[in-house]
Amino acid sequence: MENDAGRFNMNREGWLEMTHIKETLYAHSKVAEKKEELVKEFISITKSQDYINNIKPYKEELAKSCIRSSLRFSSKAMEFTKLLVEDILKTKLEYSKYYVTLPYILFHLPNDKTEQSGIHTDRRKECKNSITVWTPINTFKNTYPPISIFPKSHSLLAYLGQKLVKKIFPNLNQEGVMKKIGIRRLDVYPSISSTYIWDAELSHMGNLNSSENYHCALVIKITEKPLYLEPSVKCKDLIQRTNLKFIEFNFIDMYKNLTKHIENIEKMSLESLNIEEFISNVYDYRKLIDLETRRALSFTLSEVASRCPNQPSSNYFDLASYMVEKGNIMGLERHLRKCTDKKVVLRVFNKLSKFEKFNTYQEFTLFNKLKQRFKVDAINLRRTSIVHGW
Ligand SMILES: [Fe+2]
Repeated sequence: MENDAGRFNMNREGWLEMTHIKETLYAHSKVAEKKEELVKEFISITKSQDYINNIKPYKEELAKSCIRSSLRFSSKAMEFTKLLVEDILKTKLEYSKYYVTLPYILFHLPNDKTEQSGIHTDRRKECKNSITVWTPINTFKNTYPPISIFPKSHSLLAYLGQKLVKKIFPNLNQEGVMKKIGIRRLDVYPSISSTYIWDAELSHMGNLNSSENYHCALVIKITEKPLYLEPSVKCKDLIQRTNLKFIEFNFIDMYKNLTKHIENIEKMSLESLNIEEFISNVYDYRKLIDLETRRALSFTLSEVASRCPNQPSSNYFDLASYMVEKGNIMGLERHLRKCTDKKVVLRVFNKLSKFEKFNTYQEFTLFNKLKQRFKVDAINLRRTSIVHGW
């Protein structure tokens, strides 16, 4: 960590590297060790006969999601995240009023095409000012650049410049457009003991893992307003917490459990006569699952749905992700975004309202967005939890 506050300044380049020292360095190495242990278990599962015989298209995503959940909720990742936020606040006190998300784990298998991303920014209007905090979680140095960034692309000038170039050269791709205004791609070969931070407006991309190694990264977002898609906590509250809530999963049991639950939910999606029946069935089924498993299951359902969008139940997995544990509402948003028919949206809401109070900030924000999208004032969130007809 740079001690000189002046060095923690992303204004010009839009990104910086933060090298860990002391407890953060140690905590980081412990998360990386845990990840390598989990990778060994992952490999043993994927070599088992059961796995090889399994014909489900989502089996690999499910196994990957076990690594990601195990790490995400572990004491090692939580402690590291807390120290990381503390380090950031030491030089940027204004972030103490900001919010931070739970650690989100990226896991890239060798040649894993589902993890590649095009050039994008992490900007979300609702979050206002925000930064992305990306830490490689490996005990080895990457031989390929897991991410590429475009320094200085976050400025208003760069934004206007790109708009102009696109008008003049409509056939240029985005990288070509940025090149015209002097912004060049920087491939990041990360140090094993650093964190990389960028402004949410900065263009960047995730690259294909062309190495033989299993690459992992831990990502948190620090946002002025809470990210409405998942739970977050105020930075200053996180660093004062002495009792962080962890979950330590047994990897093999978790894999077996999640496989069983997902297959059961898939079966419900195929056998339910309509969406209302599916919703009732999932809420009934939920009662049989403990909270810790539900948190991992909710995350897994949403990840499987987003990475295997063509499999027939993916739309139902998105909805079930919310019903199983509503902290993460990414799945619900995706499910509703796909509905173009107001009547269907209304049916889903009416049925959900029998089970949920819709009383969280996340739900409130999502529903307000829906109200705007359909130009209706039918969802009265303050006075009642019931969704009226429109
Ligand atoms: Fe991103």
